[in-house]
Amino acid sequence: MIICTNKNALFQAIDKCKAQGKTIGFVPTMGALHAGHISLINRSTAECDTTVASIFVNPVQFNNPNDLQTYPRTLETDLALLETNNCDIVFVPQVEDMYPEGMQNLEHYNFGTLETVMEGAFRPGHFNGVAIVVKRLFDLVQADKAFFGDKDFQQVAIVKQLVQQCTIPIQIIPCPIVRESDGLAMSSRNVRLTADERIQAAQISQTLFAAQKMAKTHSVQEVKNFVIQTINAVPALEVEYFDIVDDTYLQSVQSWDDAERIVGCVAVNVGAVRLIDNVVFLS
Ligand code: PAF
Repeated sequence: MIICTNKNALFQAIDKCKAQGKTIGFVPTMGALHAGHISLINRSTAECDTTVASIFVNPVQFNNPNDLQTYPRTLETDLALLETNNCDIVFVPQVEDMYPEGMQNLEHYNFGTLETVMEGAFRPGHFNGVAIVVKRLFDLVQADKAFFGDKDFQQVAIVKQLVQQCTIPIQIIPCPIVRESDGLAMSSRNVRLTADERIQAAQISQTLFAAQKMAKTHSVQEVKNFVIQTINAVPALEVEYFDIVDDTYLQSVQSWDDAERIVGCVAVNVGAVRLIDNVVFLS
């Protein structure tokens, strides 16, 4: 595995692949890798000749300075995991590589209502920060395909929109959520839960699974009330939002007939840790 710690090293590695006519799959990450990330690497190695991963904790997508400061950083373990899983190239830039002009007055993207709902409403500026770094990484890596986890459902919608707006020649491949054995969606932030919070956090996905069953016989509003009340009844959990939305524009639906594919998305504060998850109601 080639480890590139600056843009020049990355350019050289990518040029070599391109010269050999190899297809490139890209898995952008912020490190603290877990089985969810590895599923993306595996998908990329299965579909592309060369797999490139990036590890960069992107400061401009954090709206909460404490979240940025406490974001887990496990570079040595991450590199070992990537190597074991046949990643070919890993790009580990410094902040100055990604933001040579500094982090003030950066470009501004407009994703319309996609960025004003759910995560966008509760994390102002977050998706603009994601779009800035993803666009810069896509320009550097020049991949054929990029793999993103469906846990960040709204992020996938934003990235697809970014690719369309900027006419980037890349295919975005959303990949299924990977869960712990008790159903908790894998997340780099899970390691920040206390042992007790970790046990209680399983109620997030358990409630979403129960809601999926309930949706067959209950209205959208009833399912919403159920999810919010059930999660809030768990002492360590506090729902920030739960919404049931169509999968394209991410707008709230009022009835199960409002869209062909309907997804329930939740953000929950578990002590000091904020977790998100989602389930598909109709597909
Ligand atoms: O999903 C993530 O880990 C990040 O938002 C991403 C896509 C790597 C951009 O920093």
